[in-house]
Amino acid sequence: MDTRSIGMFDSGVGGLTVLKEVIEECAGEKVIYLGDTKSFPYGNKTKESIIQLCKNAIDFLIKKDVKAIIIACGTATSQALEEMQKCYNIPIIGIIDSTVEYIENKGYKNIGVMATRGTIRSNGWKNKIDKKIKNANVINKECPLLAPMAEEGWTENEIAKLVVAEYLKGLKNIQCLILGCTHYPLFKEVIEEQIGDSVDVINTGEILAKSLNKILKEKNITNNKQTTKEYEIYLTDMETNFINVASKLLKDDSIGDRIKLAEY
Ligand code: DGL
Repeated sequence: MDTRSIGMFDSGVGGLTVLKEVIEECAGEKVIYLGDTKSFPYGNKTKESIIQLCKNAIDFLIKKDVKAIIIACGTATSQALEEMQKCYNIPIIGIIDSTVEYIENKGYKNIGVMATRGTIRSNGWKNKIDKKIKNANVINKECPLLAPMAEEGWTENEIAKLVVAEYLKGLKNIQCLILGCTHYPLFKEVIEEQIGDSVDVINTGEILAKSLNKILKEKNITNNKQTTKEYEIYLTDMETNFINVASKLLKDDSIGDRIKLAEY
């Protein structure tokens, strides 16, 4: 039993798609979420910059006395997870491993990945898939416009439909499509509508949340106190649009009261 919070971070609203699943799935756990809005977007930064931003975020969360850290960001997971695990003596969990395990269990071989430019450049998904799944055929697609559109709340309008259609063009004959950036589940309905029922469109946060309980149990750090849906949000830069997108996603009208400025 460990009543401390779980720390979680992303560059902006994207990681909230992970937060949403974690607070649903892991009742009893409290979450402290950091949105590094000052440094958004992570997707087009160098690996060196991402490593530094991750260190800053993790140092901030550790000062808040968290018991584990979730990197709720595909860009940061693909480029900095291993490095962070070496640097810190606290469980650090990314979004890739649990999803690759899910795909392996499902027996998928033809796999599409939509992600940021940095994630695709790092080959983070493909390398892990190739290690676990023999003869996997991975089609990568970088989608640099989607995260900024998600920050803007443009996830269901005509522009979203057009941009998604353009990005889906090369993703043919696949069994599953990994939404490899945590901003992309905000487009899940539009993507599913266009790609059809035969493709399993994967929200990594949903899979991570399911495996998180197991990870916390293994490490003996679960919190059984029933403090359902308890979370706090810190932002490195205050901007009102975050509140609009977040309150809609988390169905929380008073979300503004939970948001504070993170100074570091
Ligand atoms: N949500 C992030 C990801 O999963 C970062 C998007 C961005 O900041 O470019 O990759």
